[in-house]
Amino acid sequence: MQIYLDYSATTPTRPEAIAAMQAVLTQQWGNPSSLHEWGQRAATVVEQARMQVAGLINADAESIIFTSGGTEANNQAIMGVAHLYAKPQHIIISSIEHSAIAEPVRLLELWGWQVTRLGVDAKGRINPKDLKAALQDNTVLVSVIYGQSEVGTIQPIEELGNIAHRHNVLFHTDTVQVAGRLPVDVRKLPVDLLSISSHKIYGPQGAGALYVRPGVELIPLLVGGGQEMRLRSGTQAVPTIAGFGVAAELAVQEMSTETPRLIKLRDRLFAQLADIPGLIPTGDLIHRLPHHVSFCLEYADGEKLSGKTLVRHMNLAGIGISAGAACHSGKLSPSPILLAMGYSEKAALGAIRMTLGRDTTEADVNWTAMVLKQVLERLTPVELVFR
Ligand SMILES: Cc1ncc(COP(=O)(O)O)c(C=O)c1O
Repeated sequence: MQIYLDYSATTPTRPEAIAAMQAVLTQQWGNPSSLHEWGQRAATVVEQARMQVAGLINADAESIIFTSGGTEANNQAIMGVAHLYAKPQHIIISSIEHSAIAEPVRLLELWGWQVTRLGVDAKGRINPKDLKAALQDNTVLVSVIYGQSEVGTIQPIEELGNIAHRHNVLFHTDTVQVAGRLPVDVRKLPVDLLSISSHKIYGPQGAGALYVRPGVELIPLLVGGGQEMRLRSGTQAVPTIAGFGVAAELAVQEMSTETPRLIKLRDRLFAQLADIPGLIPTGDLIHRLPHHVSFCLEYADGEKLSGKTLVRHMNLAGIGISAGAACHSGKLSPSPILLAMGYSEKAALGAIRMTLGRDTTEADVNWTAMVLKQVLERLTPVELVFR
């Protein structure tokens, strides 16, 4: 039996998206910038997908810029605002951002920008009062991740965005783990910029989008032919964009049934693992991504026993889980997210994440809980068993 529980790292491309991509590759393969019939057929595909992706966040199609993924959308948001200024200014992010925000902001810091990284509590939540206190006259952007990919915590985005707007500061949020799983409505949310990724919602890898509220100015990262309303030059990846569009439309249609189903499975997995000594849930159990289950192992030593050890043992049993974020799991360093939440280095090295998706069943959850219990029984140091 093989069970994939790493849907936050990537999701399998759904058949409807593959069919749309195949149609583009075989029939609508023109360059969308070409004026002839072939080009216009491809342009129609891109515009259709733009409407479908806009539907995911209740936006107008004109405010969607296609990118190569969530990373580019995040970089474009940060650098697109920063490059508007000739001199370094002040930017505020959280201390638990994905590296696709944390790294461009680190670059800005090297270039002389002032950076405030808002602290979080033990559950990974920001206190909106801290944002209020951090705003300065030269603050030009606030960026806060909506749903944290390693620990599942959801932030009070509406409250945070309102605070930024009351000070006339732009607000960006990374909704890569949220869009398609929870309703996101840019007509209600006080956000100016918002990032989405295709491969987290059963679309293909290599596509994403940045929502740009009408009137918000940005300097493009990529310049050239002026595609995507001059904000992202380069011939659009029409096949992947088509697949992304279909996946976005289906995510909207299925959310009202799929999200409650995932929440039930998530809570079942948490409940089944609740009585294991030393296995501590991480993140906020109430304000939480619907598909996200994460723990850290209190007695991890970072060498013989770490999150990575558990990933390997689970993999041998046919179950795909992750140690912290997939993007970081190649190297063995403590998760900066858990450190920011106050965990010790050793405990942070014992982080694991199981993220559920469309193919996950109750039987998968039951089996996974049983296997993880057995793995932990085998790996727990003897002196702890008799504690
Ligand atoms: C919260 C978050 N932001 C951004 C990204 C990057 O998205 P992409 O893989 O599409 O570049 C990820 C991917 O893991 C993510 O989880």
